[in-house]
Amino acid sequence: MNRTQLRGLWHLRKAGEKPREERMPRHVAIIMDGNGRWAKKHRLNVSRGHRQGTETLREIIRHTDDLGIEALSLYAFSTENWNRPAEEVAALMQLILDFFASEIDELDEKNVRILILGDKSALPEQQRAVLQEAEERTGKNTGLRLNIAINYGGRAELARAAAEIAALARDGKLKPEEVSEQTVADHLYTRGQPDVDLLIRTSGEMRLSNFLLYQNAYAEFIFPEVLWPDFTVAEYDRCLAAFGRRDRRYGGR
Ligand code: FPP
Repeated sequence: MNRTQLRGLWHLRKAGEKPREERMPRHVAIIMDGNGRWAKKHRLNVSRGHRQGTETLREIIRHTDDLGIEALSLYAFSTENWNRPAEEVAALMQLILDFFASEIDELDEKNVRILILGDKSALPEQQRAVLQEAEERTGKNTGLRLNIAINYGGRAELARAAAEIAALARDGKLKPEEVSEQTVADHLYTRGQPDVDLLIRTSGEMRLSNFLLYQNAYAEFIFPEVLWPDFTVAEYDRCLAAFGRRDRRYGGR
């Protein structure tokens, strides 16, 4: 869908609302929840649920890019996900390899810039190398900012930012009283990107689960009931249209 076609999407807006394009989110974050329940519903192994979820992921990335949205952040693997059964962790790690092997050429061609949010150092060697290579290969691209959170935790991200800022203060490069909200933002993985405007979590769960705690400060939250493998582009469009109807006041009137 191009920008002209996109205008058609906003017919869902209420009469009298502002025109559409400024009502598009600049940054969408998605918690892709419900793979396990989808697998159970279909009497399949949980790994099949994650594999099906990866198909949804491909469609949603494509659509986000087509819509001209600036940034998309996806929660693929949290710091807590290591506590899942070894077989499931292994399946998720394999999916990461498969995903990049099959998608990197197209993403690069489409000028998508990939950034991994999280601590890559704790990942297996092969995954680390693939992720590093994807970031390097697309690092100068100027299109969609595709952030994939892997071994990510929001509190860990804030602690890391605090440590970096403390080191600057220790070395006399920054005075403690100069530390501002912008200083913190500049030390997050997402530095230079807009805050999250719209957070979507599928499967009806209504939690943030340690995802982009700082960046979601003024995000609009939408919780579609649908399980992630069943989430469609049409459902995504409905979320975007619902976002366009929200009245965002940022604490003002
Ligand atoms: C939550 O569903 C989903 C995850 C923990 C993993 C999400 C990962 C993918 C969709 C694919 C892998 C990512 C890449 C980048 C290839 P759940 O298992 O917690 O669902 P449940 O709550 O129904 O059990």
